[in-house]
Amino acid sequence: MKIYFATGNPNKIKEANIILKDLKGISVEQIKCPYPEVQGTLEEVSEFGAKYVYEKIEKPIIVEDSGFFVESLNGFPGTYSKYVQETLGNEGILKLLEDKEGDDRNAYFKTVIGYCDEKGVKLFKGIVKGKVSYEIRSKGYGFAYDSIFIPDGEDRTFAEMKTEEKSEISHRKKAFEEFKKFLCNMG
Ligand code: IMP
Repeated sequence: MKIYFATGNPNKIKEANIILKDLKGISVEQIKCPYPEVQGTLEEVSEFGAKYVYEKIEKPIIVEDSGFFVESLNGFPGTYSKYVQETLGNEGILKLLEDKEGDDRNAYFKTVIGYCDEKGVKLFKGIVKGKVSYEIRSKGYGFAYDSIFIPDGEDRTFAEMKTEEKSEISHRKKAFEEFKKFLCNMG
């Protein structure tokens, strides 16, 4: 069975195929089918996107929406992660947190995968919790908020971990693991 992944990002296809590789007969293929990003939660964006793309191509499809949430900022930047990264950037987030310590630096990444086939839409979620670092720290890996996020149980930021290491514990990995369980049960 071929599942189409509506994304402009080939890295996401690579990551999905690595996680799903031991599922015989299932492959994920990129499809470039832009969909409107409705204003709302990650769940609402993924559900809308999955239905929208399915109606266009009428084949099993997935879309994925992720965000970075800082708890003491009431979840900001959250669904605005892309825009905030391109404007305030990581320096801006560190500035907003300059007088915060301990649990006030708690943050998490979240991914929601929306899958749609002829039976309708299903959502699969993954979260990785951690803390915002005090400064930008990177060894050149990762992207966007990776250089200010230290996952729980680690003292390195995501951007100081090799992609393979990050991919073992990431929000995206966890969401794909949930999706994998669903595919296994489908038979
Ligand atoms: P997307 O929905 O996966 O494109 O994610 C939206 C935005 O969230 C991206 O443009 C990034 O700014 C941020 N983001 C999502 N996943 C990650 C990640 O794994 N590391 C760092 N930033 C991320």
